[in-house]
Amino acid sequence: LPKPVRIALAATDPAIIGQLRKSQDDPQDGVSRVRIQGRVQRVAKQGGLIFVTLRRGLDQMQCLLSGNLSKTYDALTLTRETAMEITGELWEVPSGAHAPLDRELRADYFSIIAKAPGGDEALTTRVPPDGDVQTLLNLRHLTLRHEKPAAIMFVRHVLETSFNTVYKELGCTKVSPPALVQTQVEGGATLFKLDYYDETAYLTQSSQLYLETVLPVLGDVYCIEKSFRAEKSLTRRHLSEYTHIEAELDFIQFDDLLSHLEHVICRVIDLILENPTAAEAIRRFNPEFIKPSRPFLRMRYAEAIDWLRERGILNEEGSDHVFGDDIAEAAERKMTDELNRPVFLTHFPTEIKSFYMLKAEDDQRVTESVDILMPGVGEIVGGSMRTWDYDELLVGYKREGIDPTSYFWYTDQRKYGSTPHGGYGLGTERFLAWLMKLWTVREACLYPRYMGRCTP
Ligand code: 4AD
Repeated sequence: LPKPVRIALAATDPAIIGQLRKSQDDPQDGVSRVRIQGRVQRVAKQGGLIFVTLRRGLDQMQCLLSGNLSKTYDALTLTRETAMEITGELWEVPSGAHAPLDRELRADYFSIIAKAPGGDEALTTRVPPDGDVQTLLNLRHLTLRHEKPAAIMFVRHVLETSFNTVYKELGCTKVSPPALVQTQVEGGATLFKLDYYDETAYLTQSSQLYLETVLPVLGDVYCIEKSFRAEKSLTRRHLSEYTHIEAELDFIQFDDLLSHLEHVICRVIDLILENPTAAEAIRRFNPEFIKPSRPFLRMRYAEAIDWLRERGILNEEGSDHVFGDDIAEAAERKMTDELNRPVFLTHFPTEIKSFYMLKAEDDQRVTESVDILMPGVGEIVGGSMRTWDYDELLVGYKREGIDPTSYFWYTDQRKYGSTPHGGYGLGTERFLAWLMKLWTVREACLYPRYMGRCTP
């Protein structure tokens, strides 16, 4: 027998096309035996034949064991997840039959690399795809092998790659700010505190302040880093550790920030959909998905308060919303679900926003701030123009009760060539939850971290 050529299971492998044999009577020149390696996704017995679907990443290939091969002990006791190698000839599947890539590997030899257990210990018994949520999370290392979590992780990869591409197109440079910090960005209530060689340090809530310091160095910048929030409530959209996509833009006005955000989001979605595997996964798990149309609806915070009052949607205390209220998750969800399109919610009151936000020129009660709200998830982006005047920044620290001492490096930015600038942070898991219509952001994480879970 000729020596087999090793091939991948992906449609992109030229060998999948090149080594194809269509019929016994019509052998192509150069057709040879191929060899593939993978884990068993499915086994089906039909008469004297055994159909084995082998999986390598998201790619799959159907293999056919027949004759003496299908009568061997290893073939008859084959279990899901067993790692194996199969050698044979690649054929187009007979008309009417379906298989990944329309190919089937007719085996003339196989060997087991490592067996996986069956019975009570079988993967699908320990973690049935529709199993209880806590069990699935406790065994996340196995749950990930199911089709949906695997597809989500793949789309997440494409999503991150797409952001990198878009920022490259826009001339933004990527940097990597520290995770261990001694300053807060988004309020003391959600800080993870730790002992840092006998000093107090925190896990970063946002890389924003550091990105601002890089504007004079590299121009427009971005980062994709972890942010940490000691969220003390269990909701569908809060994590303790999440991947934060943040960008900071120099010499801009508020309107530029909004146009940039609209462009980035729409372009990222186009790029994700250009990837056939990601597009297929989105179609499969979120069949109603439609690309958002531009321009996004723009609504000022004050208008949103009126909107909520008119519909009798109450605040967390059970009374009508008034100017100055935080719009809580439940009210925000009702709003986004009814509007059913992306919304730029802008001009939040100074009192409910962070110390660094720039006050609007036309109304000093509010800031040049924006949240992007998406149907089904709510806020996916938080951004603003930054206070760039030295004295104004000191007022901001004071208003929020922040001791400016440890912020000397941030304050210095307002001394050495300060500029109008702004930026934003986008929660990767919330964006993915919206894109794939996930019940919770926990499904968007490889190993989710939230109050009560730090394992596996
Ligand atoms: O609105 P946030 O708190 O804004 C900031 O951190 C700014 N400093 C970012 C910036 O301007 N560079 O958070 C930004 C986004 C939110 O819109 C949300 O998508 C996500 O981060 N986020 C969370 N995602 C999951 N779990 C949490 N606990 C999150 N907190 C914020």
